[in-house]
Amino acid sequence: MKNKWNEGALYRNLVDGKWLESKSVMTIYSPLDDSVLGHVPAMTKEDVDQVFLAARKAFYKWRETTIEERAEIMYRAADILMDRIDELTQLLVVEIGKDRKSSKAEVERTADFIRFTADTAKNLSGESIPGDSFPGVKRNKISIVRREPLGVVVAISPFNYPINLAASKLAPGLMAGNTMVLKPASQGSICGLSLAKVFEEAGVPAGVLNTVTGKGSEIGDYVTTHKEVNFINFTGSTDVGTRISRITSMVPLLLELGGKDAAIVLADADLDLAAANIVAGGYSYSGQRCTAVKRILVLEEVADTLVEKIKERVEKLRVGNPLHQDVDIVPLISTKAADFVMELMEDANEKGASLLLGGKREGNLIYPTLFDHVTTDMRLAWEEPFGPVLPIIRVKTKEEAIEIANRSEYGLQSAVFTQNINDACQVAAALEVGTVQINNKTERGPDHFPFLGVKSSGLGTQGIRYSIESMSRPKAMVINIH
Ligand code: G3H
Repeated sequence: MKNKWNEGALYRNLVDGKWLESKSVMTIYSPLDDSVLGHVPAMTKEDVDQVFLAARKAFYKWRETTIEERAEIMYRAADILMDRIDELTQLLVVEIGKDRKSSKAEVERTADFIRFTADTAKNLSGESIPGDSFPGVKRNKISIVRREPLGVVVAISPFNYPINLAASKLAPGLMAGNTMVLKPASQGSICGLSLAKVFEEAGVPAGVLNTVTGKGSEIGDYVTTHKEVNFINFTGSTDVGTRISRITSMVPLLLELGGKDAAIVLADADLDLAAANIVAGGYSYSGQRCTAVKRILVLEEVADTLVEKIKERVEKLRVGNPLHQDVDIVPLISTKAADFVMELMEDANEKGASLLLGGKREGNLIYPTLFDHVTTDMRLAWEEPFGPVLPIIRVKTKEEAIEIANRSEYGLQSAVFTQNINDACQVAAALEVGTVQINNKTERGPDHFPFLGVKSSGLGTQGIRYSIESMSRPKAMVINIH
């Protein structure tokens, strides 16, 4: 592939039959070699107004389409996505520096997600509630409850899954009958515009799916506080999510934010299984996942053995540039991100943690790093690195593990490794998180499971059916028979 991405494959907004032309563009560089990949519109507030106008106008028509018509478009979108899998895989590699295998898996997972969303929407049913189940109400009263779209939904997707986490907002939102405004993270915006183009080619009419690109510092707040917005579906950092919830009032939100997922390893755990899951969960895509395993809380009596097993596996991880080879550990998305990871590692080093592996940096490539004897006065015990570094915290009891796990400001997921079902259930019940994985790494999928965070990790519930429900509302019609 040459320096420039195929700009003809990018979505453009059509407003009142005319292409929306932005005066300036934003250049997107590859995090792998700083080469120019292409340009996306750097929209102004006036452009954003035009986009919302188109979305609002289109809503009244789109909501009248049948679920079957929308589903047919989704099935076509999934097929087109798979037809372009090679091109999109390459784009993910160069734009966000994801390894080739995971990039391909992201495209496949997205096609599956879109198809499953169409199937699910087709099978959702409303309800009818007899009035006479309530005291004093006669048999002549019945409530019929159907789901209605919300209107114009803003979907804000992050850099780390620019295709999947955009589609996981767009497909359920569209199936629910909303019109959508996609604002992809700048790094990942070529992927976002390519995905929007796929939906357009599949038959999504002009105005139903729109895109906004540009500097967050210039138009970010303007988009989220725009008067035409009826719902915001955001995945990204806790800082930005908190800001969105502070500045938007009375606009319902679905937020998926940061995490500090703990893997708790009890004394009777299958340590090979635990080590395999911890390494896969902690280091894939260099830890740049909200659900990555971000700390290990292990019972002292098995800590030495577990540490050895983890070390063995981390040593085998392939490190490098995904452009040139198949690797597990890739350069981080930006210098700022790599600087932050180094800062947390330096703090752990200074406070006496034992550096077992890694700690090395070449540009934005950070070698897989493992720290043992991390204590709760270290930043690494609490802060989310979004990088390939895992702290091991040794604990005396499972109660201590639960206490440290819950002391976090985050509450996305946790994992517990044990062969005792009673312990597994007790620990799972005590953890203040959205999901507890028993004997598995923390992870979002499969995508029809509910996915949610509590505390600083988010608001609302995703997952195919849950996302459709989040982006729609019940509408009741009460029939009174006389
Ligand atoms: O980064 C946040 C994503 O929701 C994580 O998804 O668990 O499939 O990697 P994943």
